[in-house]
Amino acid sequence: MAKCTTFPILFLFLIFPQPSLSQENNFVRQPASQLIITPHQRSNSEPQQVHVSLVGKDKMRVSWITEDKEAKSVVEYGKKSGVYDEKTIGEKTSYQYFFYKSGKIHNAVIGPLEANTSYFYRCGGLGPEFSFKTPPSKFPIEFVIVGDLGQTEWTASTLKHVGKKDYDVFLLPGDLSYADSQQPLWDSFGRLVEPYASKRPWMVTEGNHEIEIFPFIYPKGFEAYNTRWPMPFKESGSNSNLYYSFEAVGVHIIMLGSYADFNVDSEQYEWLKLDLAKIDRAKTPWVITLVHAPWYNTNEAHQGEGEAMREAMEELLYNARVDLVFAGHVHAYERFTRIYDNKVDSCGPIYVTIGDGGNREGLALKFKSPPSPLSLFREPSFGHGRLRILNETHAEWSWHRNNDKDAVIADRIWIENLSKVQDCCDISNSQQVVNEEL
Ligand SMILES: *[C@@H]1O[C@H](CO)[C@@H](O)[C@H](O)[C@H]1NC(C)=O
Ligand SMILES: *[C@@H]1O[C@H](CO)[C@@H](O)[C@H](O)[C@H]1NC(C)=O
Ligand SMILES: *[C@@H]1O[C@H](CO)[C@@H](O)[C@H](O)[C@H]1NC(C)=O
Ligand SMILES: [Fe+2]
Repeated sequence: MAKCTTFPILFLFLIFPQPSLSQENNFVRQPASQLIITPHQRSNSEPQQVHVSLVGKDKMRVSWITEDKEAKSVVEYGKKSGVYDEKTIGEKTSYQYFFYKSGKIHNAVIGPLEANTSYFYRCGGLGPEFSFKTPPSKFPIEFVIVGDLGQTEWTASTLKHVGKKDYDVFLLPGDLSYADSQQPLWDSFGRLVEPYASKRPWMVTEGNHEIEIFPFIYPKGFEAYNTRWPMPFKESGSNSNLYYSFEAVGVHIIMLGSYADFNVDSEQYEWLKLDLAKIDRAKTPWVITLVHAPWYNTNEAHQGEGEAMREAMEELLYNARVDLVFAGHVHAYERFTRIYDNKVDSCGPIYVTIGDGGNREGLALKFKSPPSPLSLFREPSFGHGRLRILNETHAEWSWHRNNDKDAVIADRIWIENLSKVQDCCDISNSQQVVNEEL
């Protein structure tokens, strides 16, 4: 417990608002699981909390933190372990939140990189060697998707299961550290996820636990989130780290911001309209969207919280033939049919809630009854999802429940692309459900 002692954390719990702990609804949760504090065990000049994210077609942003203010923002890398042919100098920054001052937060964008290739790299000219693999240049591509991660024993179990089977890109629809203004918990989270986030690109969007607004002093919030988890928003024409889009192989991925303005006169709405218009389905036959607060949800938790955003933006996604929409926020798994405006619609996206990463609040155990015909599978268990896109017409979605030892596939469907408008009107063959209770 080198850096984070228990005392300041408990102390901070008392002085900062804890929106997450208030029981605004009457939904039932499991008792909380043990928080895992991941201590700082390297020297002050060595990198910690290393993570990578995609930038453009063939670049990667490497992000890390040092306690040492003088540490260099350099990334050395190459295709052979220990041999670094290339070098990029990045930038460093830091932020302050009340009496907490962050370490130096370094970012360097490296590349161009070859596709489907392992690179070895070192940050700041010293410390351990890391390695990542770039996404492939053609199908298949596999995404791991899981929200509401937190840093508990459940989180550790989810990540262990994720690490057991290869994948290309990690997508997180909001609620990362559950620091909730206790800044040392952001550092602890960065260290907990480093073994995963330094190996594969992690692409995130914000949840309510990233807000960290404090009236008058930090009125805009997202100080820690935006500084620690910079995403390639400028590359997609967005003005905010809270919403952006990017492409990986033949997939256009839209990361929406539930906690940025989304009404029809907002910047986010304007940006989304332009972004959707730019999609070339010949190049990216698949379009998926991530957002924190679900637009469809039959759990008793967080009812209606995504409704205003749905009303504002659903039509845009529908008209653009978005294939799938993933959300977090509700701590359970739920998969819907193809929907538009609360009705089954074979041209609408499939909606999935995957907010069951393992945060400290526990599961949202109560679903509403009677069940909605729109909701095809729902279960309050921790786990993670995998979207494996096989080719331009077929993908497989699976949900892997955390059982004691193994990640069990508890739900699995085949999905066909919606890219050809005239072909999306027959629902009977757009979904073949293979629910497996193993
Ligand atoms: C990526 O590389 C692996 C071997 O390193 C190979 O088996 C696989 O087919 C490649 N994938 C693509 C899409 O090129
Ligand atoms: C895509 O994959 C599916 C499932 O494996 C297969 O049936 C289909 O023929 C493939 N389509 C193309 C164009 O390769
Ligand atoms: C998926 O895309 C292919 C090729 O672009 C097209 O032929 C097919 O009809 C599409 N499938 C659906 C369900 O839209
Ligand atoms: Fe949330």
